[in-house]
This record gives sequence, C-alpha cells and structure tokens, in this order.
Amino acid sequence: MSLLARYRDLLPITDATPLISLAEGNTPLIAAPRLARELGVRELLLKFEGMNPTGSFKDRGMVMAIAKAVEEGARSVVCASTGNTSAAAAAYAARAGLEAVVIVPAGKIALGKLAQALMYGAKLVAIEGNFDAALDIVRKMGDSYPITVVNSVNQYRIEGQTTAAYEIVDVLGDAPDALCLPVGNAGNITAYWLGFQRYHQRGKTTHLPKMLGFQAEGASPIVRGSAFDKPHTLATAINIGNPASWQYAVSARDESTGCIDCVSDDEIVAAWRDLARCEGVFCEPASAAGVAGLRKLVQQGAAPPDARYVAVLTGHGLKDPGLAVEQFSPPQPVPPSMTAIERVLGW
Ligand code: F0G
Repeated sequence: MSLLARYRDLLPITDATPLISLAEGNTPLIAAPRLARELGVRELLLKFEGMNPTGSFKDRGMVMAIAKAVEEGARSVVCASTGNTSAAAAAYAARAGLEAVVIVPAGKIALGKLAQALMYGAKLVAIEGNFDAALDIVRKMGDSYPITVVNSVNQYRIEGQTTAAYEIVDVLGDAPDALCLPVGNAGNITAYWLGFQRYHQRGKTTHLPKMLGFQAEGASPIVRGSAFDKPHTLATAINIGNPASWQYAVSARDESTGCIDCVSDDEIVAAWRDLARCEGVFCEPASAAGVAGLRKLVQQGAAPPDARYVAVLTGHGLKDPGLAVEQFSPPQPVPPSMTAIERVLGW
C-alpha cells in the first residue's frame, strides 16, 4: 500500500487528493549491535531513509506536498535545496506531470543529487549564494508567481514526514527512548516530534521519545542561538545558517526534554565511516550526524547507556560518492596476475 494510503487517516487527505506514489516510506529499521557496543549503548536501531525512491527522507514530505499541489490545481512547483529536496521535488513533479523549478547553491550540492534533478527534468538554477539565500528567493517567487513552494515551509511537507515516526512505532510497538537525527532547515525534527505526539495522543505509545538533534559545528545556528552568515560543513546537506523551522525545533527539543547540539566534521566523518564499516549501512555524510552526536553525548555522560536509541539516516551514501572515495588513497592498478594481487593483499 502507498504511504499516503497507509496513513490516510493521519494525513490531510481528502477524496480529491491523488494518492500518487513511487513506493516511498516503509524504510527498514536496522538493528546495529556492533555500533551500539562500540558506542556503549544497550540498543541502537537505524531508520535507513536512504532506501526511499530518490534516496532520502524528503520523499515522504514531497509525495504529500505534490499530491496537495495537484489537488489545488497547481501547474508548477519550486524549491530551494542543498540537493535532496530538489531531487525529490523533481521526481514527484515528473510523476504527477508538473513542472519543477529548483534553486541550488552553486558548487555546494553532491553530484548524485544534481544528476537526479537533471534527469527527472527539473529546471535547475544554481545561484552564487548559499541555501539560505536560495530559500529567500523561493519565498519571493511563491509570492509573485502562480507556483507552489515545496520547501518545508509548506506544511504538507511536514505532514508527510510525520509518517516516519508512525513507522518506527508501528515496528517497535512503542516509541524509542530517544531519536537521534541531523538538523539542517529543521523540518524533520519538527515532523518527527509532531508524529510521535500524535501517536501518543492516540494511545499508540506509552511515552514520548527525547529528540536529540545535531547540527554540524560550522552550521550550528540553533546551538549558538544566532544565524550563521557563512555556514560551512562538508556535510553539504545540512549546510544551513538560518533554519526555517528554527522555533519548532527548539519546541521539540524543550517539550521532549532532549537537546540540540553540534558535532564537528571530523566526528561526522568518523560516524559515517563506522556505520558503513561496522554495520554495512552506507548513508550520506550529513546523515551520520545523529550517530556522531549520540557518541558525543554518551562520552559526556549525557545520554544513558541503558536505553533504546533510534538514529535516523536521512540519505543514501551513493548521493555523494566523491567524498567517500576521497577518504581513501586511490587503488594503484597492478598486472592481472595472482602474484601481483597477493602482493597488494599482503598474503
Ligand atoms: N539529512 C539530509 C541528507 C538532508 O538532505 C537534510 C536536509 C537534512 C538531513 C536536514 O533535514 O532540513 O529537515 O533539518 N536537506 C534539505 C535539502 C535542506 O534541501 O535537501 P532538515
């Protein structure tokens, strides 16, 4: 069953809403026992959102936003993006027969994401500026033209993204003790908190989880308490200086008695590599910020070891293969002989 059909009763769906789908959602919740042991926690589960059709969690919100855009008679949609939102917008617009316009920061989006927007047929504009500047322009475009903004300032995006919280509870039979996730524009932490609260009100959970959000140190406005003019992190997906859902993220943090902290690029890279090496789960760098943050909190004694943690891995590793390959020295070609290969392997 499609995501919209499955959670129809919890979503703003009417008889006129087209239940479009690319088979998004229903992503795996993968036990990570080795990594849990290494981090020193009882249980860690990975909600691998990279398994969505365009390779990120954005598909959940986008399928809802595009369905509503179609219902409301829109012909075209627009978004600003660090890459994943643009890939999802382009794919679902193509699916629904709408035009997609995507505005991205030039040179700051991973190659896989650029390839997706182009292949799905979006009109792509690269600006000499960052994500925050792109979002400002997109808001103005939404005011000036008959075009639907599908950034997470569009409430339907947030609504669609609540489905990830429902899925976690449906699988576990209850909420986890804490949810760890990266924070960029802060829509996802907002959506998870809304989703968990809604399920709790319906008696589906015995408690609410703590929301543990992590920004990259060089782009950590919520942690610092003021916007960053020139955010910088290798985790390009979360390179955002002035998050649109800032206040909602702060509410999620406070109401859940969780935290929003930051992790360095080195800590992100270490967690990113550990996820692949210890568990066989390859996510994109930004996606590892939740695990990097959990490690930091455990080391500080700020996260109890005897708890069940879910870390959201927001995007697939193949979105950004360049950065992965750069971590290693390139393999030197050798002659096609057993002896040469044995020498390389040190056998
Ligand atoms: N992880 C990935 C892989 C992302 O692409 C994003 C955001 C986030 C985490 C942060 O989520 O913004 O809801 O706090 N990407 C947006 C984009 C900004 O344009 O694709 P958030």
